[in-house]
Amino acid sequence: TKKVAVLTSGGDAPGMNACIRAIVLACERADYAIIGYQHGYNGLLNQEYCLLNNNQVHNLIQRGGTVLHSARCHEFKTDEGAKKAAENLDELDIDTLIVIGGDGSFKGADHLSAFWSGQVLGLPGTIDNDIGGTDATIGFYTAIETAVTSIDKVRDTADAFERIFLVEVMGRHAGFLALHAALASSADYVILPELFEKPDVTLECITEQLNERRKQSDHISYIIVLAEKLWPGGIDNLAKALTEKTQSEVRPVILGHVQRGGSPVSEDRILATKLGAYAVSLVTKNVSGVMIGERAGQIVEVPLKLTWEESKPLDKQMVTTMKTLMNERYA
Ligand code: F6P
Repeated sequence: TKKVAVLTSGGDAPGMNACIRAIVLACERADYAIIGYQHGYNGLLNQEYCLLNNNQVHNLIQRGGTVLHSARCHEFKTDEGAKKAAENLDELDIDTLIVIGGDGSFKGADHLSAFWSGQVLGLPGTIDNDIGGTDATIGFYTAIETAVTSIDKVRDTADAFERIFLVEVMGRHAGFLALHAALASSADYVILPELFEKPDVTLECITEQLNERRKQSDHISYIIVLAEKLWPGGIDNLAKALTEKTQSEVRPVILGHVQRGGSPVSEDRILATKLGAYAVSLVTKNVSGVMIGERAGQIVEVPLKLTWEESKPLDKQMVTTMKTLMNERYA
């Protein structure tokens, strides 16, 4: 019989537990043994694992975080680390390793493939959605929901005070989360890495647009969604620059790690469950070094390398819509 190992690595994402559950149940149905390495690749290097079964994943689908814990592991990136991991996997007679994580985790998985002859499968789990070859990643939909409900709350106080708010959302170097959250929360402006030109241009656009709006009504709130890691000097610098330019109070809000937590929304549970179960269906197949994703409703197997080499564009129609609503002249 086959023996499968699963681990979660890198930034945790809501739905990772749902994915673990699906993998464990699918393994039980197929009569495979299943273990979970803890603390990401660290567990693989230190042989820290637990046996998993139906009972452990009972009542798990709705829980945020990951019961296997997660980490970023530098040692694993070295050849010595990958060799050690290969030895450990062989020691436990593992046939298949399933890695749930983002692009750093996939690079690690791909590196391991060079040293280990077993089957390596990746499942996309990150709130950033910055993985090529799949329309969405596990955790992305929940993070949008969290950001949107938070921005709705910011809007209440912004409206009460007729203030300008800057809201920073996560996403690493990609603007998926920022764009989706901005559109769904009716933000007045969004600053994304994919569309960012220069600080001066952006400041000019925001000020002009704000002035235009104030001609219609003095009593407005104004919300700007800012993708993280983008503005030189950070959100406080932008708040300061905008305060000077607009002669109004500008308040910065960083949503931060709140966006990583919470019970996964149904889209994430369903995606996680489909991808997890599909990964187990590949255990007897001659395929390795791939990520399992979903494109246009179809499950796809994508070579791990392509997941970070292929650029993943923002949804064109969403960008156009956001620009139109922001008033394209200023976008
Ligand atoms: O990749 C997920 C993510 O939450 C990014 O959005 C963010 O840039 C990063 O991880 C934060 O990492 P850490 O939890 O190590 O601060």
